[in-house]
Amino acid sequence: MKAKVNVGIIGLGFMGTTHLGVYKGLAHARVAAVADVDPRKRRGDISAVVGNIGGGDNTEPLDLSGVRVYEDALSLIADPEVDVVDICVPTAMHAEYALAALKAGKHVFCEKPLCRTAAELRALVAAAKKAEGFFNVGLCVRAWPEYRVAWEYFKSGRAGKMLTATFKRISPGVDGNSWKNWYMDDKMSGGALLDLHVHDTDEVNYFFGRPKAVRSVGSSVVSRNGGIDHVVTTYDFGDGRLVMAEGGWEQSKGATFEMSFTIVCEKATLKLDSTGFNIFLKNGKKVTPKLDVKNGPTGWHQELAYFVDCVRKGVKPTKYQTIDSIADTMKIIFAEEKSAKSRKTMKI
Ligand SMILES: NC(=O)c1ccc[n+]([C@@H]2O[C@H](COP(=O)([O-])OP(=O)(O)OC[C@H]3O[C@@H](n4cnc5c(N)ncnc54)[C@H](O)[C@@H]3O)[C@@H](O)[C@H]2O)c1
Repeated sequence: MKAKVNVGIIGLGFMGTTHLGVYKGLAHARVAAVADVDPRKRRGDISAVVGNIGGGDNTEPLDLSGVRVYEDALSLIADPEVDVVDICVPTAMHAEYALAALKAGKHVFCEKPLCRTAAELRALVAAAKKAEGFFNVGLCVRAWPEYRVAWEYFKSGRAGKMLTATFKRISPGVDGNSWKNWYMDDKMSGGALLDLHVHDTDEVNYFFGRPKAVRSVGSSVVSRNGGIDHVVTTYDFGDGRLVMAEGGWEQSKGATFEMSFTIVCEKATLKLDSTGFNIFLKNGKKVTPKLDVKNGPTGWHQELAYFVDCVRKGVKPTKYQTIDSIADTMKIIFAEEKSAKSRKTMKI
């Protein structure tokens, strides 16, 4: 068993610096290397980093002492000391670096969404399946304490059959919040549909499995190249039950980030809203389950702590995801993108 897992982070924007902070709190992880094309970030100046959630206070420079700093991501991937390559660059660049890192025999943690196109997805799934290294994607909501406890309750069968379900994720405006404003370019990010709403597509898949078809309605109001900034999708499981998810990022800056769900089942309603996560039983009783936050309060803490632990022990990570479940989520979201852009129902 390794005493410390050496991590190399590619991209020191909102997510890369968030991951850096999480690794610093883990007893068995060490950030050995970072790579970024931006010379200010390589000097530790992250004052321009905002991200898609807003409200970040990045006035303090990063402490990169003892960390090897690269301009070129491929040099970080070739660094023999790096065990885990953690990819936090814009989405359209994920495939190139993930494929290179898997080929180099590294363990790879790649931010969500896994990739921008269906062709990239096919190449990544094939590479991950034959790779020696472990591969996980930052579908952090699977590990988010409130969603996790709801998923465990639902999967235990205690809630009974799902009758209807709705998921929602609305962030403050992201225009101007990213490196070269890449979030606003559909070719780089896939708009809010791919970037933000993917978390709820993934939850639909994680809770209920692959739907038979999707129907998405979207509007493009702030993105370039037709990126969908607000989407509503209904997921058809072939039995008339209504499953719906909505996501958008065109609010004013400073507006609150909202993530919520209501899963109505035969024996209970599972609900996350601004009051927290609660289970409302059929008999009128409300149960507020204890959340597992021993690794930290967010899904980012849980997923990275777990991945590092798996690498350290040499145990393949399966707790939150498999390459097949990630691929299913990507197939569903690409079908949603086609549906929103063609205004047609898409079979999965
Ligand atoms: N899991 C989540 O909750 C979550 C939240 C936000 C973002 N993300 C994902 O994280 C990824 C990064 O998003 P972000 O918000 O950090 O973006 P960002 O714009 O804040 O940061 C991107 C960083 O990549 C750097 N970069 C660009 N090209 C590079 C290259 N070729 N080599 C090395 N560095 C390069 C930029 O200089 C910048 O520092 C995206 O895939 C995004 O979807 C995930």
